[in-house]
Amino acid sequence: MAEPLRIALAGLGTVGAGVIRLIETNAALIARRAGRPLEIVAISARDRSKKRSVDLSRYAWEDDMVILGEKPEVDVVVELVGGADGPALACARATIEAGKALVTANKAMIAHHGLELATKAEAAKVALKFEAAVAGGIPVIKGLREGAAANAFERVYGILNGTCNFILSTMEDTGRDFADVLAEAQARGYAEADPAFDIEGTDAAHKLAILAAIAFGAKLDFAAVDTAGISRLRAADIAQADSLGYVIRLIGMAEPGHAADGPRLFQRVQPHLVPFDHPLAHVDGATNAVVAEGNFSGRLLFQGAGAGDGPTASAVVADLIDIARGEIGAPFSVPVAELETLPPALTGNRTGRAYIRFIVADRPGVLAELTAAMRDAGVSIESLIQKGRSEAGGEVMVAMVTHEGPESAVSEALRLLDGSPSLIRPPLVMQILGA
Ligand code: NAP
Ligand code: HSE
Repeated sequence: MAEPLRIALAGLGTVGAGVIRLIETNAALIARRAGRPLEIVAISARDRSKKRSVDLSRYAWEDDMVILGEKPEVDVVVELVGGADGPALACARATIEAGKALVTANKAMIAHHGLELATKAEAAKVALKFEAAVAGGIPVIKGLREGAAANAFERVYGILNGTCNFILSTMEDTGRDFADVLAEAQARGYAEADPAFDIEGTDAAHKLAILAAIAFGAKLDFAAVDTAGISRLRAADIAQADSLGYVIRLIGMAEPGHAADGPRLFQRVQPHLVPFDHPLAHVDGATNAVVAEGNFSGRLLFQGAGAGDGPTASAVVADLIDIARGEIGAPFSVPVAELETLPPALTGNRTGRAYIRFIVADRPGVLAELTAAMRDAGVSIESLIQKGRSEAGGEVMVAMVTHEGPESAVSEALRLLDGSPSLIRPPLVMQILGA
């Protein structure tokens, strides 16, 4: 058998430990498929004395992860530290500059610095691979870049954050509260080091920007993702959605748009109401699912575990197997210099149905004020629900579902209501996912 692919691992947390376990457990079958063994020759993390879930005694420790790529005995560095900048980025840059391949699960780093790293990797003719950065164990990058490479994509959307999906589906099934379910997602190793990245939609936006660049051949533009998370949702929204025939899911969506001045790209992460009969309504727990609509393939659905040690390690090691086979490829499917610059599409030009939730003062005239704003902005209301009465003089929740219409009309209605003393909290708008 050929010489082993010699690997240095930076980061020995949830994913790093999973990668070691996977390489050790499936060593023989991986070697057969890759045509040569994968051999870990160096490891690095922050704290050498930390108790780990895997035995590290046979691997050489290196304190400074940034120099891993410079070691002559290393062919590829696997960065599993996290963070857009800091040691992860220093390690990635140094690895590629040393002429070595880099594998990473770090969507924050790729979303912010992917174009720079890819440009450097292409110039150095080394692999830069990040399958695990999007949707954990689902081979969706490979799916778009290889299996569906012949298609023009009309739309790519899906559930891209396991933590949010775990929170939403567990709250839905058990009625447990937000903070309690988030703590469980952290304990299971799904959440980012700073869980605000999960619940505010940033992590899903990182992944969407990466997917959109690959699907649409566009320069990655994370700043253009219109992002909202799930932290403003209440258990009552979940119950309300249920009574209307929907579940709530955090959906990332990207599709080409057009304006008078040329093509654009729409990218948005936002909680959506998903009809019970839509495939994404049945995606529960930390599962992710990505729908890609190709002009020849039709609708493709990629589904699987979006977080956790085993699934994420599976994606990392798949990249290592590709590298062992000698596959380099352009990180974003086409060379960086050939990616198009697509300005953000304006969300107001879109049409759809929306759920709007108000928390208002419980007093006469408030409903009339809300509906007048809708009328004046040209928003047609399909249903309006005010459940029960609040405690004397307190707040009450009013939920509306609109008919199909321009998103700009809903924005205008909310603008008309802005500053009204009847609104106790800012309104929450969620789009209703179409077929
Ligand atoms: P983690 O459990 O927090 O592990 C992070 C590792 O990086 C630890 O071994 C830690 O060292 C090391 N580290 C952190 N800061 C460091 C520093 N300043 N210098 C040196 N080492 C440092 O994180 P994880 O969940 O494995 O995630 C790793 C990466 O995979 C992240 O980019 C994450 O977004 C991505 N990812 C995670 C999942 C998932 O399900 N967890 C899924 C997909 C992608 P010590 O152990 O010594 O503290
Ligand atoms: N924190 C991420 C999630 C990990 O919950 O989906 C996987 O990328």
